[in-house]
Amino acid sequence: MANNLLAGKRGIIFGALNEQSIAWKVAQRCHQEGATFVLSNAPLAMRMGEINKLAEECSAPIIPADATVVEDLEKVFSGAVEQLGGKIDFVLHSIGMSPNIRKGKHYGELNYDWFQKTLDISALSFHKMLHVAEKQDALAEWGSVVGLSYIAAQRAFLDYTDMSQAKAVLESIARSYGQRLGQLKKVRVNTVSQSPTKTTAGTGISGFDAFYEYADRLSPLGNAPAEACADYCVSLFSDLTRYVTMQNLMHDGGFSTTGISEAMVDLLTQATSKEA
Ligand code: NAI
Repeated sequence: MANNLLAGKRGIIFGALNEQSIAWKVAQRCHQEGATFVLSNAPLAMRMGEINKLAEECSAPIIPADATVVEDLEKVFSGAVEQLGGKIDFVLHSIGMSPNIRKGKHYGELNYDWFQKTLDISALSFHKMLHVAEKQDALAEWGSVVGLSYIAAQRAFLDYTDMSQAKAVLESIARSYGQRLGQLKKVRVNTVSQSPTKTTAGTGISGFDAFYEYADRLSPLGNAPAEACADYCVSLFSDLTRYVTMQNLMHDGGFSTTGISEAMVDLLTQATSKEA
């Protein structure tokens, strides 16, 4: 259902890799709601070519960027302002990657060069984006910036390894830049802490299926799908949430505030009765 919530708004969406990507769904919803935007992803991801389909569907220009490289981000922000014809009203940071997770390193064996890469790609890139946006004065007043996070920033999920620290940094950057850009430009900056979602980044985590099922059974509403995350992002980009800033917003079907659920009690009762 489209309500023209983003009519006339200009945006930049980072991180649409394929149809499963959360950023892909956000782009589709923003398009339905009347926004125009630039799509950006790492040159390596571009070579897979799928983003061209999305660009065509949404009539969106693509500007490649390695989000760890400030010069690349400068080109994205200046190019977006030029191609879209004015300052940027919304930005989605939907970027995450851990070489340690990719290589199957557990928490006790992290490679520190890769740890730094994880932080650079998944967290400092958010800082670099906001830094470039401010320096270029590329954001419109009352603009909105959203980064995607995960509850491992607050609670220990060992298989999430160094991404847990990256998400904690990401959320902290949202608070600090939220304060700064709120004062300077009335721009809001938030993170959305999303349920486990079956995407390339998500399913790359060891034990993903187990914590997907666990979260789904624990959450009274079940896991929030990527499409619902896109709806939430649209609401945060819209003028209906102009005073929400510096928050880490849980979009998790109630997972983060549930102790135990009937579904989990039933499952554990069955498992322990088999053991007895
Ligand atoms: P995805 O794999 O579709 O998206 C990750 C994106 O990061 C890809 O488009 C990839 O090309 C991009 N990327 C990696 N390195 C980059 C670089 N150097 N420069 C620019 N882009 C780069 O997976 P998903 O799940 O859509 O991930 C999006 C965001 O959502 C990430 O921040 C992830 O941590 C977060 N998230 C995902 C959850 C899940 O279970 N899938 C749960 C909670 C948060």
